[in-house]
Amino acid sequence: MSFNSTLRFDISRRTLSNLTSIATLAVTSTFILTGFAAQAHTPELGDFQQKPILADLGMLKALNVPISYADSANNLAIAYITPQMEQKISEAAHRLNKCGGFESLEGTLSPSASFASDSKSIIQNLVDYKRKNQQYAQTRVRRLAIEPKPAIEAALADLKIENLQAWVQWLSSFPSRFNRLADPNKHIAPMVDRLNQMIAAGKIPAKVDLIDHQNTKQKSIRVTVQGTSRAQEVVVLGGHLDSIAGWSGSDKAPGADDNASGSANLLEALRVVLNQPRPARTLEFYWYAGEESGLLGSAEIAKAAKAAKKNVVAVLQLDMTLFPGEGEFNIGSMTDFTSAWLRDYLVAMNDTYLKIKILEGECGYGCSDHASWFRNGYPTVMPFEARLNTMNSNIHTSNDVLSNRLNFKHSLVFSKIALIMAMDLANSNITQPFH
Ligand code: BES
Ligand code: ZN
Repeated sequence: MSFNSTLRFDISRRTLSNLTSIATLAVTSTFILTGFAAQAHTPELGDFQQKPILADLGMLKALNVPISYADSANNLAIAYITPQMEQKISEAAHRLNKCGGFESLEGTLSPSASFASDSKSIIQNLVDYKRKNQQYAQTRVRRLAIEPKPAIEAALADLKIENLQAWVQWLSSFPSRFNRLADPNKHIAPMVDRLNQMIAAGKIPAKVDLIDHQNTKQKSIRVTVQGTSRAQEVVVLGGHLDSIAGWSGSDKAPGADDNASGSANLLEALRVVLNQPRPARTLEFYWYAGEESGLLGSAEIAKAAKAAKKNVVAVLQLDMTLFPGEGEFNIGSMTDFTSAWLRDYLVAMNDTYLKIKILEGECGYGCSDHASWFRNGYPTVMPFEARLNTMNSNIHTSNDVLSNRLNFKHSLVFSKIALIMAMDLANSNITQPFH
């Protein structure tokens, strides 16, 4: 069901399926199409109170689900569904031996004048991704190889566990970093101060920007390290800085693992990057706003990047890195909403530098900010603390705090991944094959 996965995560706690299962469904569905429908059902106001989904066109038609956007060439459609329809679709998909049978587009597709063009590009991206991955899978030389470089070895040895610990402690000491608090930016200003101190202590120039959003009052933070010879090519290294807990989201939300951990990995990687020579490609570090409320910050950032035709060559997402559910130094690598060549690049960096164990598996839905970039056509990779069924179960509660079950040696691997992308990928000319 997934493209290159060797092991699948247990997605039983998730109700929704993923893009790859939809694509499979599209290929194998036995439903018969009844003619072309470019836009069979114009969405009305009421529709938008329902859940937007992407699913197999033939299946939706057979189930009489009103279709808001249809692409008959690819047998895919977008519909706004009620819980009852959701039930019907899940049952039909199960009869076909598929998972949920659809992907939720909640938080992705909003009621707007650009509904039709947004729908078209969501489907186009999926189809393009499938084509690129298939072409990639057919190439003979599938594994990338990374030459070991002493400068990178030395930089990796400079990453410090104590710094990670200090960052996670500091971030998780805010009562909450939830994006819908009365003041959702309490932690942002002091973080910017600390970033500026870090930059002042470094050897190369970098700048900090605060990014305002339309869909949340919370701001995202970006640090840019301008590249030398190929500055227009950008490597993005990111994770979400916000946290959530409780039904209303506003309980005490320390978010130590989710996601002070990934945020800290990026901060410590940045410190070391700032003591290295400038890379050829530009680096953009992001600490995204409002991920827990539906990938809000990254959705706007990735959409703007696409509109500006920004040449983002790779996106790393770090979200939850502290809980070694599969054992120390056994990490996950998500195969959905990520790119096969970047997952191979992760394997190659493991062979050369990390020497740990990587277990491939699925999140099952657009579970973090990499999905925002992926939906806008950019290549992504998402290494993860464990597998889905062995991950930290305290997330989204007030118990997501530092404890002896969290492992900073394990987490340091993820700073290494960010640093290798900053020093190797950002100094290479490797890109997504098959544009
Ligand atoms: N860190 C979690 C997502 C996660 C869960 C990643 C399991 C990998 C494995 C993230 O912050 C989160 O909670 N995401 C939301 C989805 C989002 C669209 C609101 C979720 O999983 O419910
Ligand atoms: Zn998270």
